[in-house]
Amino acid sequence: MIGAAGGVGSRLCRILTERGDEAVGVFRRAEQAEIVSGAGAAGHQFDLVDGSDDDLEEILEGCDAVVFTAGAHGTGEDQTTLIDGKGLEKALRAAQEAKVYRVVVVSAMPEAARGRETTPSFEHYMRTKKRGDIIATTSGLDWVVVRPGRLTNDDGNGRVTAGLAVEYGEIPRDDVALFLAEVVRTPELSRAIVEVTRGPETVQEAVGTVVELLNQELP
Ligand SMILES: NC(=O)c1ccc[n+]([C@@H]2O[C@H](COP(=O)([O-])OP(=O)(O)OC[C@H]3O[C@@H](n4cnc5c(N)ncnc54)[C@H](OP(=O)(O)O)[C@@H]3O)[C@@H](O)[C@H]2O)c1
Repeated sequence: MIGAAGGVGSRLCRILTERGDEAVGVFRRAEQAEIVSGAGAAGHQFDLVDGSDDDLEEILEGCDAVVFTAGAHGTGEDQTTLIDGKGLEKALRAAQEAKVYRVVVVSAMPEAARGRETTPSFEHYMRTKKRGDIIATTSGLDWVVVRPGRLTNDDGNGRVTAGLAVEYGEIPRDDVALFLAEVVRTPELSRAIVEVTRGPETVQEAVGTVVELLNQELP
């Protein structure tokens, strides 16, 4: 997982290890090592901006899937370009070279700021996320792009609404992490952009709903 010390990433590390998976967590700063090991993952310090493709490839080798949940979290347009944009490209290249074809990319819903006055840096963030979606969806990999609504630190209840398009809303980071964990282990869900917010279904039901939508036959 790339972004393993973050709000979503650290939760996801814990969920994966608690269910018996071996999680590998990529983090940026030395002081984040404890967050990642505390969540049960094997940590690797790697900077998406300065680190080489080869080093990241080596970290990813042997993994079944890569989850990209890193982000510049409002530290400026340049950082957004380097992390959410070029960092994602680097991660996808490294995954390909490491022959880890399943990649789950955390993106954002396009409605994120609808009805509000935005800033140029927010607009840049949204454009960068969309470009990331384009790069992931044309990568030739076994990709899934997950677009959560507005993230909160409320306690999750394990219940969400997911679909190829859903109404905009909030979702606790806890539930995004649970949803990602379910996506990772559902190979039938592939090559789809999936939106997810708080809702009534368990994550298993919600992932099942999306798989059904993808496989629906014409009447
Ligand atoms: N906030 C929202 O409402 C919202 C909505 C939809 C989608 N999202 C997206 O959801 C994702 C996860 O969000 P979150 O709340 O978990 O974010 P977060 O807590 O900021 O976690 C992101 C992680 O990425 C790491 N990172 C940043 N730059 C890096 C680099 N150069 N090399 C390696 N790691 C790096 C960060 O480390 P540092 O602490 O060192 O920076 C941090 O641990 C993000 O991609 C975000 O854009 C957010």
